[in-house]
Amino acid sequence: MSQTASDIRKAFLDFFAAREHRVVESGPLVPPNDPSLMFANAGMVQFKDLFTGKEARDYKRATSAQKCIRISGKHNDLEAVGPSPRHHTFFEMLGNFSFGDYFKEEAIVYAWEFLTGTLGLPKDRLVCTYFGGEDGIPADTEARDLWKKLTGFGDDRVIGLGKADNFWQAGDTGPCGPSSEIHIYQGGSGDIDFGSFGDEQTPEGVGWMELWNLVFMQYDRPSKDAELQPLPKPSIDTGAGLERLACVLQGKTNNYDIDLLRELVECAAEISGKPYGHTMAPDDVSMSVIADHSRLTAFLISEGILPDRDGRPYVLRRVMRRAIRHGHRLGIEQSFLHRVALKVAEL
Ligand code: GLY
Repeated sequence: MSQTASDIRKAFLDFFAAREHRVVESGPLVPPNDPSLMFANAGMVQFKDLFTGKEARDYKRATSAQKCIRISGKHNDLEAVGPSPRHHTFFEMLGNFSFGDYFKEEAIVYAWEFLTGTLGLPKDRLVCTYFGGEDGIPADTEARDLWKKLTGFGDDRVIGLGKADNFWQAGDTGPCGPSSEIHIYQGGSGDIDFGSFGDEQTPEGVGWMELWNLVFMQYDRPSKDAELQPLPKPSIDTGAGLERLACVLQGKTNNYDIDLLRELVECAAEISGKPYGHTMAPDDVSMSVIADHSRLTAFLISEGILPDRDGRPYVLRRVMRRAIRHGHRLGIEQSFLHRVALKVAEL
C-alpha cells in the first residue's frame, strides 16, 4: 500500500481522534518557558506540565504531529544526518498521549491496531522491545507480558533492552519512564533471522528500523542527579517517526526517497547539475544533507530564529554552514540554500 506522508499523518490523527483523543496542533520548535531544552525534541514537550500534574486541561487524551529537532542536548543526531538513511535534524513525530487516563495495555493495543490494522504492516516482520531493567530500575515485565499475550510472539520477538534503548526522558530532568519500541525488518522475502535484530537498516534495505516508541511515563526526575519520584498518575507518551512510516509504506529503504524529502533532494540535484542516484555515494549523501538541513533552516527561520553566534541562532548557523559546505562539495558556486528552503515552504 503506497500512501503519502499527508495520508499517514491524517490516518494517525483520525485513528486517535476516533478513540477520544483531542487533536492538538504541533507545539513550536522553540519551547516557551522550558530552559531544559533548546528545541522541541518530542511530542511530549508541550505536555510536560500535564504529566507532572502542574497543569490540567479539559482533556486527558491527546494526539499530535509535532515538529521536532534533535541536534542538541540529550538527543543529538547531527553527524548521522546524511550518511544515515533514516536520521534527520528536523522531522515530524506522531504521538498519542494519556495524562493519567489509560496506561500500558491500551497504549500497546492502540499501537498494534494502528500499525497492523489501519496501516496493514506485516506482523511477521515486527519485533517489540521492553525495558529489561538497569541501575536498580526494575524490568518492565508487565509490558513484556502484554506484548506476548497480544502478539503471540516468543522471547525472540519480545526483547528486553537496557536504559539506552528503553528508558526515555526528553532532557536531564522531567517526566520519564520505561518504554517499548516496535521495529520492522526491511529486506528481501524469505525467512527473517530474528537473531539479526539490532542490525540497523542499510539503504540496500536489509536490517531493522525502529518505527514507534511507547513511553510509559511513571517517574519524574526533578533535578539532574535526583532520585526518580513516582508521577502522581502514570501516563502515556508515544512517538512514531512520520518519515520512517512513510518510508516503509512507500516501499522505500531510504527516508530521502519518500514524497516529503524526494523533491528537496531533486532540487539540490538540479541546482548542482548532477543526477541523484539513490545511493550512499558522496554526491547523494551531500544532496540528502542539503534536503534535510533546508527543512530545519526553513522551519527555524519561520519561528523567528536567524543564524548568529550563540545559542539557538548558532545551532542554525552550524546547520546552514554544513549544508552550504555540502553544496560546495557538489560544485555549486552560487548561493543556493534559499532556493531549497523556498521549496520546503512550497511543499
Ligand atoms: N517521547 C517519546 C520519544 O520521543 O520517543
